[in-house]
Amino acid sequence: MNWFQVQAYLKYLCKAKYRRGHRIHPPFAFDLVRYLFYEKHQYYHFDIINDIRNDLSQSKSKLLVTDLGAGSKKFKGRKRSVRHLIKYNATPQKQGELISRLVVNFKPDNIIELGTSLGIGTLYLAMANSNAAVHTIEGCERLANEAAKNFSIAQVDNVNQHVGNFSEVLPGVVEGLKSVDVVYFDGHHDCQATLDYFNICLSKASTSAVFIFDDIYWSKGMAKAWEQIVNHPQVSVSFDLFRFGIVILNKEVKKQHYMVRWP
Ligand SMILES: C[S@@+](CC[C@H](N)C(=O)[O-])C[C@H]1O[C@@H](n2cnc3c(N)ncnc32)[C@H](O)[C@@H]1O
Repeated sequence: MNWFQVQAYLKYLCKAKYRRGHRIHPPFAFDLVRYLFYEKHQYYHFDIINDIRNDLSQSKSKLLVTDLGAGSKKFKGRKRSVRHLIKYNATPQKQGELISRLVVNFKPDNIIELGTSLGIGTLYLAMANSNAAVHTIEGCERLANEAAKNFSIAQVDNVNQHVGNFSEVLPGVVEGLKSVDVVYFDGHHDCQATLDYFNICLSKASTSAVFIFDDIYWSKGMAKAWEQIVNHPQVSVSFDLFRFGIVILNKEVKKQHYMVRWP
């Protein structure tokens, strides 16, 4: 963590008072926190993803990657070992499991993921609901090819891979969908880029769409983007879990923001 992140984390520790739903009164938000964030049920697909993650963690392969995003705080140069990509870039287990539970609960038709990398986050999204169509976008072709191997190992057939820059690919993906129901923003951690992608997805967002933003305190710029997203008039309920944030666009629910101590 850099100094900005340490400060942001200390602020979060002081302010995040909602644990296990205590003191959250509106039933919609209480139910989500109490019964979803802390749900214990282990879905069968969690084991499959853990096995793939463990295999990749022991891989000796190295990949030459093209990063179209805001750069990395962990990697220098273009050569990245698969095991380091799994350690530093892939969605962590607990976060992935919560994302899966959100998909199980909200039953989306269409899901978009910005940033496929090796496909770990995609698997949590796709395996939670085989009826949902998952569109995952990755700028590095080499990584997209590696992810495709992992989708094949997991035998998922509801993933549509798109290779290219988010700014070029996302508008077409959104345009082609009837509605955007869940979006996982997990790449290009830049304030303006994040806001641009958010606005593109908003244009087709269904009532009660769920948007998940990774690394909301990665930088001052990301914290600024997160603040603007939370305050956006179309966002009703937002949860700050420090490592990532979740917003729900349900017009029928009063605007509320929670900093939740999780896990
Ligand atoms: C943190 S990783 C994604 C991790 C992945 N969701 C997972 O759970 O394993 C971010 C990915 O986004 C890609 N990326 C970043 N900025 C991009 C952009 N502007 N266009 C396309 N891909 C981009 C990077 O190449 C990287 O693989």
